[in-house]
Amino acid sequence: MLVTKAVIPAAGLGTRFLPATKSVPKEMLPVVDRPAIEYVVEEASQAGLRDVLLVTSRSKKAIEDHFDREAEVEAALERKGDKTRLERVRASAELAEVHSVRQSSPRGLGHAVLCAAAHVGSESFAVLLGDDLIDERDPLLVEMIALQARHGGAVVALMEVPEESVSMYGVATIAPGPPAGAAAEPAGGAAALTTPTGRYRAVRVTDLVEKPPVDEAPSNLAVIGRYVLPPEIFDILRSTPPGRGGEIQLTDALRTLAERAGDDPAAALPVHGIVFTGRRYDTGDRVDYLKAIVRLASERPDLGPEFYPWLEEYVASGGPKAEA
Ligand code: G1P
Repeated sequence: MLVTKAVIPAAGLGTRFLPATKSVPKEMLPVVDRPAIEYVVEEASQAGLRDVLLVTSRSKKAIEDHFDREAEVEAALERKGDKTRLERVRASAELAEVHSVRQSSPRGLGHAVLCAAAHVGSESFAVLLGDDLIDERDPLLVEMIALQARHGGAVVALMEVPEESVSMYGVATIAPGPPAGAAAEPAGGAAALTTPTGRYRAVRVTDLVEKPPVDEAPSNLAVIGRYVLPPEIFDILRSTPPGRGGEIQLTDALRTLAERAGDDPAAALPVHGIVFTGRRYDTGDRVDYLKAIVRLASERPDLGPEFYPWLEEYVASGGPKAEA
């Protein structure tokens, strides 16, 4: 069945960005000149998911307002004849049909996803985590949705990360070969089946563990914040006990799904992964957030030509090492 709904958990406190996030939701912090969450809603919309559900909490009203029309600002821009800005202000309200539901207590990502059950109903749906931005030039979600359409069950986005970082992520165990039938799907030829590091791009996930210690991690394949999930995940989440950090973990529910499917190639609800090798920006951490901004600004046609030469000069001059 076609995936049409996206769920975006946005209830986190944003403690890593205090005091900026004392009264502004972390999802509203600008990445260049647009709030971080707008990139994520745009990604969903570009993948054909026009029904977006934000799972929010108290003090997140600014996010809902951002995806609504702003009559006063629009009228002022119209009076001035400022068409460019008018279009940009309207764009966020036109990206998707944005709904919201409250997660009243911070009980973890799994619980946040469970809050979407009534809205999602009995369809498969996507989950996009706001801290991970996927470059629009490297589409991932579309590929995940296509894989899910073929096999059913769940699809997670995976990325090879340095070994020392595995404890920050859900980590996957994968089956050695490509998923059943993959070899007969030549879109793009044999090269499209593997990553530049020689891994199969689409893989069968046989187990998942949330934030394992480095020496217990089954691989360096980390779950990055994109999921396509079957509606059966809700029942599993309802009976998933609190896991790491005392929170209800989505990873644990996916592990249950993977365990139930075992290695039966015909299992009704298997778990697959797409190993992503494109550009991903982590905006959940201050240094990575800065890197994302510098990179995106440098590559923007309207800002890069002015910004990047300045950056080069700043670096060449020794940056903070230069004497004032
Ligand atoms: C969450 C998930 C984790 C996943 C990560 C991706 O963790 O629980 O499995 O790998 O997102 O960003 P968080 O970053 O919210 O702690």
